[in-house]
Amino acid sequence: MTVFNNQKELKSHLKPFLEGNKTIGLVPTMGALHNGHLSLLKKSLLQNKITVISIFVNPTQFNNLEDLKKYPRTLEDDLKKIEELNSDIIVYAPTIQDIYGENVASTSFDYDGLEHQMEGKQRPGHFDGVGTIVKTLFEIVKPQRAYFGEKDYQQVLIVKKMVEKHNLQVKIVVCPILREKNGLAMSSRNERLTPQERAEASFIYQTLLKAKEMFQTEDLDNIYAFVKQSFKKQKIMQLEYFTIADAKTLLEITKKHKTKKYRAFIAVNIGNVRLIDTISLN
Ligand code: PAJ
Repeated sequence: MTVFNNQKELKSHLKPFLEGNKTIGLVPTMGALHNGHLSLLKKSLLQNKITVISIFVNPTQFNNLEDLKKYPRTLEDDLKKIEELNSDIIVYAPTIQDIYGENVASTSFDYDGLEHQMEGKQRPGHFDGVGTIVKTLFEIVKPQRAYFGEKDYQQVLIVKKMVEKHNLQVKIVVCPILREKNGLAMSSRNERLTPQERAEASFIYQTLLKAKEMFQTEDLDNIYAFVKQSFKKQKIMQLEYFTIADAKTLLEITKKHKTKKYRAFIAVNIGNVRLIDTISLN
Protein backbone atom coordinates (compact mmCIF):
# COMPACT_ATOMS: atom_id res chain seq x y z
CA MET A 1 0.00 0.00 0.00
CA THR A 2 1.31 3.44 -0.90
CA VAL A 3 0.00 6.47 0.95
CA PHE A 4 0.15 9.99 -0.47
CA ASN A 5 -0.63 13.18 1.42
CA ASN A 6 -0.02 15.51 -1.45
CA GLN A 7 -1.43 15.66 -4.93
CA LYS A 8 1.81 16.47 -6.69
CA GLU A 9 3.41 13.20 -5.60
CA LEU A 10 0.25 11.22 -6.29
CA LYS A 11 -0.02 12.64 -9.80
CA SER A 12 3.57 11.80 -10.66
CA HIS A 13 3.07 8.28 -9.27
CA LEU A 14 -0.05 7.79 -11.43
CA LYS A 15 1.40 9.35 -14.60
CA PRO A 16 3.06 6.19 -16.00
CA PHE A 17 -0.18 4.23 -15.48
CA LEU A 18 -2.20 6.87 -17.30
CA GLU A 19 0.29 6.95 -20.17
CA GLY A 20 0.26 3.16 -20.32
CA ASN A 21 -3.55 3.20 -20.63
CA LYS A 22 -3.96 1.25 -17.39
CA THR A 23 -7.45 1.69 -15.99
CA ILE A 24 -7.74 3.60 -12.73
CA GLY A 25 -10.67 3.20 -10.34
CA LEU A 26 -11.29 5.84 -7.66
CA VAL A 27 -13.20 5.33 -4.41
CA PRO A 28 -13.80 8.71 -2.72
CA THR A 29 -14.41 8.47 1.06
CA MET A 30 -14.23 10.48 4.24
CA GLY A 31 -12.63 7.57 6.11
CA ALA A 32 -13.78 5.74 9.25
CA LEU A 33 -13.99 2.85 6.85
CA HIS A 34 -16.59 0.11 7.22
CA ASN A 35 -17.63 -2.83 5.06
CA GLY A 36 -19.75 -0.54 2.86
CA HIS A 37 -16.62 1.36 1.84
CA LEU A 38 -14.69 -1.90 1.46
CA SER A 39 -17.36 -3.24 -0.92
CA LEU A 40 -16.70 -0.25 -3.21
CA LEU A 41 -12.98 -0.99 -3.06
CA LYS A 42 -13.57 -4.66 -3.91
CA LYS A 43 -15.61 -3.71 -6.95
CA SER A 44 -12.91 -1.32 -8.13
CA LEU A 45 -10.20 -3.95 -7.64
CA LEU A 46 -12.17 -6.32 -9.88
CA GLN A 47 -12.73 -3.77 -12.64
CA ASN A 48 -9.46 -1.79 -12.80
CA LYS A 49 -5.70 -2.26 -12.93
CA ILE A 50 -5.15 0.43 -10.31
CA THR A 51 -7.40 1.34 -7.38
CA VAL A 52 -7.08 4.65 -5.55
CA ILE A 53 -9.02 5.43 -2.37
CA SER A 54 -9.22 8.99 -1.12
CA ILE A 55 -9.70 9.63 2.58
CA PHE A 56 -10.60 13.23 3.27
CA VAL A 57 -13.13 14.75 5.64
CA ASN A 58 -14.21 17.51 3.31
CA PRO A 59 -15.00 20.63 5.38
CA THR A 60 -16.98 22.44 2.67
CA GLN A 61 -19.75 19.81 2.54
CA PHE A 62 -20.55 20.14 6.26
CA ASN A 63 -23.24 22.71 7.00
CA ASN A 64 -23.01 21.86 10.70
CA LEU A 65 -19.73 22.67 12.45
CA GLU A 66 -20.47 20.26 15.30
CA ASP A 67 -20.94 17.40 12.80
CA LEU A 68 -17.62 18.26 11.14
CA LYS A 69 -15.79 18.38 14.49
CA LYS A 70 -17.28 15.07 15.67
CA TYR A 71 -16.83 13.24 12.37
CA PRO A 72 -14.76 10.12 13.22
CA ARG A 73 -11.15 10.27 12.05
CA THR A 74 -9.45 6.87 12.25
CA LEU A 75 -6.71 6.97 9.62
CA GLU A 76 -4.47 4.37 11.22
CA ASP A 77 -7.28 1.84 11.47
CA ASP A 78 -8.41 2.68 7.95
CA LEU A 79 -4.94 1.98 6.56
CA LYS A 80 -4.89 -1.40 8.32
CA LYS A 81 -8.21 -2.37 6.75
CA ILE A 82 -7.01 -1.31 3.30
CA GLU A 83 -3.71 -3.19 3.65
CA GLU A 84 -5.60 -6.31 4.76
CA LEU A 85 -7.91 -6.13 1.76
CA ASN A 86 -5.21 -5.60 -0.85
CA SER A 87 -1.74 -4.16 -0.52
CA ASP A 88 -1.74 -2.74 -4.07
CA ILE A 89 -4.33 -0.09 -3.24
CA ILE A 90 -3.11 3.49 -3.46
CA VAL A 91 -4.28 5.81 -0.68
CA TYR A 92 -4.66 9.55 -1.08
CA ALA A 93 -5.15 11.16 2.33
CA PRO A 94 -4.55 14.86 1.68
CA THR A 95 -4.43 17.80 4.05
CA ILE A 96 -7.06 20.52 3.73
CA GLN A 97 -4.40 22.79 2.27
CA ASP A 98 -3.42 20.28 -0.40
CA ILE A 99 -7.00 20.34 -1.69
CA TYR A 100 -8.05 23.94 -1.09
CA GLY A 101 -4.84 25.95 -0.71
CA GLU A 102 -5.64 29.02 1.40
CA ASN A 103 -9.25 29.31 0.22
CA VAL A 104 -11.38 26.68 1.92
CA ALA A 105 -14.57 27.29 -0.04
CA SER A 106 -16.76 25.44 -2.48
CA THR A 107 -17.70 26.50 -5.99
CA SER A 108 -21.37 26.54 -6.80
CA PHE A 109 -22.96 23.97 -9.07
CA ASP A 110 -26.23 23.77 -10.96
CA TYR A 111 -27.60 20.24 -10.81
CA ASP A 112 -30.87 21.05 -12.59
CA GLY A 113 -32.85 21.11 -9.35
CA LEU A 114 -31.63 17.82 -7.85
CA GLU A 115 -29.84 19.92 -5.22
CA HIS A 116 -33.06 21.49 -3.93
CA GLN A 117 -34.58 18.24 -2.62
CA MET A 118 -34.08 16.36 0.65
CA GLU A 119 -30.40 16.49 1.71
CA GLY A 120 -29.94 19.69 -0.32
CA LYS A 121 -32.90 21.31 1.39
CA GLN A 122 -31.84 20.21 4.88
CA ARG A 123 -28.14 20.87 4.46
CA PRO A 124 -27.64 24.18 2.59
CA GLY A 125 -24.44 24.19 0.51
CA HIS A 126 -23.83 20.47 1.07
CA PHE A 127 -23.92 19.47 -2.59
CA ASP A 128 -21.74 22.41 -3.67
CA GLY A 129 -19.16 21.01 -1.25
CA VAL A 130 -19.61 17.48 -2.61
CA GLY A 131 -19.37 18.68 -6.25
CA THR A 132 -16.24 20.70 -5.46
CA ILE A 133 -14.34 17.86 -3.79
CA VAL A 134 -15.44 15.13 -6.21
CA LYS A 135 -14.54 17.24 -9.28
CA THR A 136 -11.16 18.10 -7.71
CA LEU A 137 -10.48 14.42 -6.98
CA PHE A 138 -11.43 13.48 -10.56
CA GLU A 139 -9.00 16.12 -11.86
CA ILE A 140 -6.18 14.87 -9.65
CA VAL A 141 -6.62 11.10 -10.12
CA LYS A 142 -8.16 11.06 -13.64
CA PRO A 143 -9.99 7.76 -13.06
CA GLN A 144 -11.85 5.88 -15.78
CA ARG A 145 -14.31 4.69 -13.14
CA ALA A 146 -15.44 6.08 -9.79
CA TYR A 147 -17.41 4.17 -7.18
CA PHE A 148 -20.31 5.52 -5.13
CA GLY A 149 -22.81 3.90 -2.75
CA GLU A 150 -26.55 3.84 -3.30
CA LYS A 151 -26.98 4.73 0.39
CA ASP A 152 -26.31 8.31 -0.67
CA TYR A 153 -28.63 7.99 -3.64
CA GLN A 154 -29.09 11.74 -4.08
CA GLN A 155 -25.31 12.16 -4.07
CA VAL A 156 -25.07 9.57 -6.88
CA LEU A 157 -27.51 11.52 -9.07
CA ILE A 158 -25.74 14.79 -8.23
CA VAL A 159 -22.32 13.37 -9.17
CA LYS A 160 -23.72 11.88 -12.40
CA LYS A 161 -25.24 15.27 -13.27
CA MET A 162 -21.95 17.04 -12.57
CA VAL A 163 -20.09 14.55 -14.79
CA GLU A 164 -22.63 15.05 -17.60
CA LYS A 165 -22.64 18.87 -17.36
CA HIS A 166 -18.84 19.16 -17.29
CA ASN A 167 -18.41 16.43 -19.87
CA LEU A 168 -15.98 14.52 -17.64
CA GLN A 169 -14.59 11.24 -18.95
CA VAL A 170 -15.40 9.04 -15.98
CA LYS A 171 -17.95 6.27 -15.50
CA ILE A 172 -19.89 6.38 -12.23
CA VAL A 173 -20.37 2.88 -10.82
CA VAL A 174 -23.18 2.58 -8.27
CA CYS A 175 -22.84 -0.02 -5.50
CA PRO A 176 -25.60 -1.50 -3.30
CA ILE A 177 -26.16 -0.55 0.35
CA LEU A 178 -24.37 -2.72 2.90
CA ARG A 179 -26.24 -3.18 6.17
CA GLU A 180 -25.49 -4.37 9.68
CA LYS A 181 -27.07 -7.70 10.65
CA ASN A 182 -30.02 -5.82 12.15
CA GLY A 183 -30.64 -3.91 8.90
CA LEU A 184 -29.11 -0.57 9.90
CA ALA A 185 -27.30 0.89 6.89
CA MET A 186 -23.57 0.92 7.57
CA SER A 187 -22.28 4.44 8.12
CA SER A 188 -19.22 6.06 9.65
CA ARG A 189 -21.63 8.01 11.85
CA ASN A 190 -22.86 4.73 13.45
CA GLU A 191 -19.58 4.82 15.39
CA ARG A 192 -21.02 7.69 17.39
CA LEU A 193 -24.06 5.70 18.60
CA THR A 194 -24.14 3.79 21.89
CA PRO A 195 -24.66 0.02 21.51
CA GLN A 196 -28.28 0.48 22.57
CA GLU A 197 -28.89 3.28 20.08
CA ARG A 198 -27.25 1.23 17.37
CA ALA A 199 -29.57 -1.70 18.12
CA GLU A 200 -32.66 0.51 18.18
CA ALA A 201 -31.65 2.27 14.96
CA SER A 202 -32.60 -0.88 13.04
CA PHE A 203 -36.09 0.63 13.33
CA ILE A 204 -35.19 2.99 10.45
CA TYR A 205 -34.78 0.15 7.96
CA GLN A 206 -37.75 -1.78 9.41
CA THR A 207 -39.88 1.30 8.72
CA LEU A 208 -38.60 1.57 5.15
CA LEU A 209 -39.42 -2.10 4.55
CA LYS A 210 -42.92 -1.59 5.90
CA ALA A 211 -43.36 1.53 3.71
CA LYS A 212 -42.31 -0.52 0.70
CA GLU A 213 -44.86 -3.19 1.53
CA MET A 214 -47.58 -0.56 1.96
CA PHE A 215 -46.61 1.17 -1.29
CA GLN A 216 -47.88 -1.83 -3.26
CA THR A 217 -51.49 -1.41 -2.09
CA GLU A 218 -52.00 1.74 -0.04
CA ASP A 219 -52.42 5.47 -0.67
CA LEU A 220 -49.42 7.71 -0.21
CA ASP A 221 -51.22 9.58 2.60
CA ASN A 222 -51.55 6.37 4.61
CA ILE A 223 -47.86 5.61 4.22
CA TYR A 224 -46.82 9.10 5.36
CA ALA A 225 -49.22 8.88 8.33
CA PHE A 226 -47.88 5.45 9.27
CA VAL A 227 -44.25 6.61 9.23
CA LYS A 228 -44.97 9.79 11.21
CA GLN A 229 -46.96 7.87 13.82
CA SER A 230 -44.31 5.17 14.15
CA PHE A 231 -41.59 7.73 14.88
CA LYS A 232 -43.76 9.63 17.35
CA LYS A 233 -43.70 6.51 19.51
CA GLN A 234 -39.90 6.37 19.39
CA LYS A 235 -38.10 7.92 22.33
CA ILE A 236 -34.55 8.29 21.09
CA MET A 237 -35.17 8.94 17.39
CA GLN A 238 -36.48 12.09 15.73
CA LEU A 239 -37.75 11.86 12.19
CA GLU A 240 -36.27 14.71 10.13
CA TYR A 241 -37.93 13.80 6.86
CA PHE A 242 -39.56 10.88 5.09
CA THR A 243 -40.17 11.40 1.38
CA ILE A 244 -41.47 9.27 -1.45
CA ALA A 245 -39.95 10.60 -4.64
CA ASP A 246 -39.42 9.91 -8.31
CA ALA A 247 -36.13 8.00 -8.59
CA LYS A 248 -34.94 10.18 -11.49
CA THR A 249 -36.04 13.71 -10.59
CA LEU A 250 -36.13 13.24 -6.79
CA LEU A 251 -39.35 15.29 -6.75
CA GLU A 252 -41.83 14.24 -4.10
CA ILE A 253 -44.79 12.52 -5.71
CA THR A 254 -48.48 12.97 -5.14
CA LYS A 255 -49.64 10.10 -7.34
CA LYS A 256 -48.21 6.76 -8.47
CA HIS A 257 -47.68 6.06 -12.19
CA LYS A 258 -47.16 2.47 -13.31
CA THR A 259 -44.27 3.29 -15.64
CA LYS A 260 -42.14 5.29 -13.18
CA LYS A 261 -39.61 4.24 -10.58
CA TYR A 262 -39.97 5.48 -7.04
CA ARG A 263 -37.89 5.47 -3.87
CA ALA A 264 -38.40 6.33 -0.22
CA PHE A 265 -35.83 8.52 1.52
CA ILE A 266 -35.47 9.04 5.24
CA ALA A 267 -33.35 11.14 7.61
CA VAL A 268 -33.40 10.51 11.35
CA ASN A 269 -31.61 12.14 14.28
CA ILE A 270 -30.48 10.15 17.29
CA GLY A 271 -29.16 12.77 19.69
CA ASN A 272 -26.86 14.79 17.46
CA VAL A 273 -26.09 11.90 15.11
CA ARG A 274 -27.85 12.23 11.77
CA LEU A 275 -28.54 9.06 9.77
CA ILE A 276 -30.01 8.64 6.28
CA ASP A 277 -31.33 5.62 4.39
CA THR A 278 -33.25 4.85 1.21
CA ILE A 279 -35.10 2.00 -0.48
CA SER A 280 -36.52 1.39 -3.95
CA LEU A 281 -40.30 0.99 -3.83
CA ASN A 282 -41.10 -0.64 -7.17
P1 PAJ B 1 -18.52 8.65 2.85
O1 PAJ B 1 -19.72 8.93 3.67
O2 PAJ B 1 -17.26 8.26 3.52
O3 PAJ B 1 -18.90 7.55 1.81
C1 PAJ B 1 -18.00 7.16 0.82
C2 PAJ B 1 -18.73 6.27 -0.16
O4 PAJ B 1 -19.16 5.09 0.49
C3 PAJ B 1 -20.00 6.96 -0.72
O5 PAJ B 1 -20.11 6.72 -2.09
C4 PAJ B 1 -21.10 6.28 0.08
O6 PAJ B 1 -22.35 6.25 -0.59
C5 PAJ B 1 -20.52 4.88 0.23
N1 PAJ B 1 -21.18 4.20 1.35
C6 PAJ B 1 -21.39 4.68 2.61
N2 PAJ B 1 -22.09 3.81 3.35
C7 PAJ B 1 -22.33 2.74 2.55
C8 PAJ B 1 -23.01 1.49 2.73
N3 PAJ B 1 -23.59 1.18 3.88
N4 PAJ B 1 -23.05 0.63 1.69
C9 PAJ B 1 -22.46 0.95 0.50
N5 PAJ B 1 -21.82 2.10 0.27
C10 PAJ B 1 -21.74 2.99 1.27
O7 PAJ B 1 -20.04 10.07 0.69
C11 PAJ B 1 -19.01 10.58 1.10
O8 PAJ B 1 -18.16 9.95 1.98
C12 PAJ B 1 -18.57 11.95 0.67
O9 PAJ B 1 -19.69 12.75 0.39
C13 PAJ B 1 -17.61 11.92 -0.57
C14 PAJ B 1 -18.28 11.33 -1.80
C15 PAJ B 1 -16.34 11.12 -0.24
C16 PAJ B 1 -17.17 13.37 -0.90
O10 PAJ B 1 -16.54 13.96 0.18
